[in-house]
Amino acid sequence: MSGKFIVVEGLEGAGKSSVIGLIIKALESAGMGVEQTREPGGTPMAEAIRECVKQSWDESVAEETELLLMYAARVQLLTNRIYPALEAGKWVVGDRHDLSSQAYQGGGRGVNPTTMNAMRDIALKGFKPDLTIYLDVEPAIGLERARGRGELDRIEQAGIAFFERTRARYLALAEADESIIVVDAMQPMAMVHSDVSKVIAGYIA
Ligand code: TMP
Repeated sequence: MSGKFIVVEGLEGAGKSSVIGLIIKALESAGMGVEQTREPGGTPMAEAIRECVKQSWDESVAEETELLLMYAARVQLLTNRIYPALEAGKWVVGDRHDLSSQAYQGGGRGVNPTTMNAMRDIALKGFKPDLTIYLDVEPAIGLERARGRGELDRIEQAGIAFFERTRARYLALAEADESIIVVDAMQPMAMVHSDVSKVIAGYIA
């Protein structure tokens, strides 16, 4: 594989979309072919899974069901878009990837590490992003921003304690992996963008 896979991660309201736009612009200006993805989603079947996992149901949704759906969508996206794009030499910019499952299902929902590791190994077979930018925001701030965009979906309704656990897991995993860069997303947007631009410029230099 000759392309690179860059992922943007963060809680709801962290500002992923505008940062992704910035990264794509920087890569295209540097002459790279770029493909954009989002998770869960990014292929027709994975988008159907996204609808399914985000909507509310008149039954409880088991943690393992949620986890399996995230991985089903991820494998579809990897197989049909990410691997072919990387093999074609493109740079893929992902709105979320496996770190979301580790943080939301592993940290937030509390799915046990044995299940998390088994699922990841089966689905990803050792594949991981080249670079991840984690936009760090306190849940109270992020959720307030997300609320401003409209109704909260099933996952977003999980409550502040769930997002505190999710954020803590994001930070712990970033601390342990030098390919994950933490950017303070509570700063003014211009400063967030400046920090991200420096990371990207350093990476492609
Ligand atoms: P978003 O793309 O609008 O942020 O919505 C995706 C939602 O799905 C968000 O609440 C995070 C959640 N999610 C997980 O819980 N686990 C995952 O593995 C992924 C990719 C997303």
